[in-house]
Amino acid sequence: MNASPLLLGITGASGSIYAERFLHLAKERGFAVELIVTKTGEAVLKHENCEAILQNCEKIHKIDDFFAPPATGSSNYFGMAILPCSMATIGRIAAGTSDNLLIRAADVCLKENRPLVLAPREMPFNEIHLENMLKLKRAGATIISASPYFYEHPKTIEELADTVAKKVLQQILKF
Ligand SMILES: Cc1cc2nc3c(=O)[nH]c(=O)nc-3n(C[C@H](O)[C@H](O)[C@H](O)COP(=O)(O)O)c2cc1C
Repeated sequence: MNASPLLLGITGASGSIYAERFLHLAKERGFAVELIVTKTGEAVLKHENCEAILQNCEKIHKIDDFFAPPATGSSNYFGMAILPCSMATIGRIAAGTSDNLLIRAADVCLKENRPLVLAPREMPFNEIHLENMLKLKRAGATIISASPYFYEHPKTIEELADTVAKKVLQQILKF
């Protein structure tokens, strides 16, 4: 087991399976994974039949609990992935609002120079989305679009989702 846990943020963008697969892969690599899920994230998880993820993680932090460890730079998280990441959350992190625990935890990763990987899912992007993503990249985040690839000939939806989830984990471990 790695000494420092990973944070996984789940928002109300489509693609809950990416979060499910990320959790699976991170656990395989010996990470404890703690979750922060937005209110819409929880609704979309249920809608996309992925709520089992809530039973498979080390800990779930309440979205409005600013006393929880992810809210402070004194905690020892290895880094944070947000996948799938909505444009609303991208916008709030870029604006530095820190108005829920997920946004605050991402803000903490940036200020502490810890890996923060965001996997936005939207199509098409408008100019505001693109500007926010550029701002976040310049602030130190890694942006990985939730665009699966096909050249390894995935046979199942899990294998397809792994093409994104694996990339997100690799980027965190590269730090
Ligand atoms: C079924 C469903 C799918 C959605 N898919 C997306 C999406 O792929 N990308 C996105 O940016 N927003 C999507 N939304 C809209 C977000 O959920 C909405 O903007 C919400 O405010 C995001 O809040 P959060 O970032 O706090 O989770 C979706 C909403 C629903 C109900």
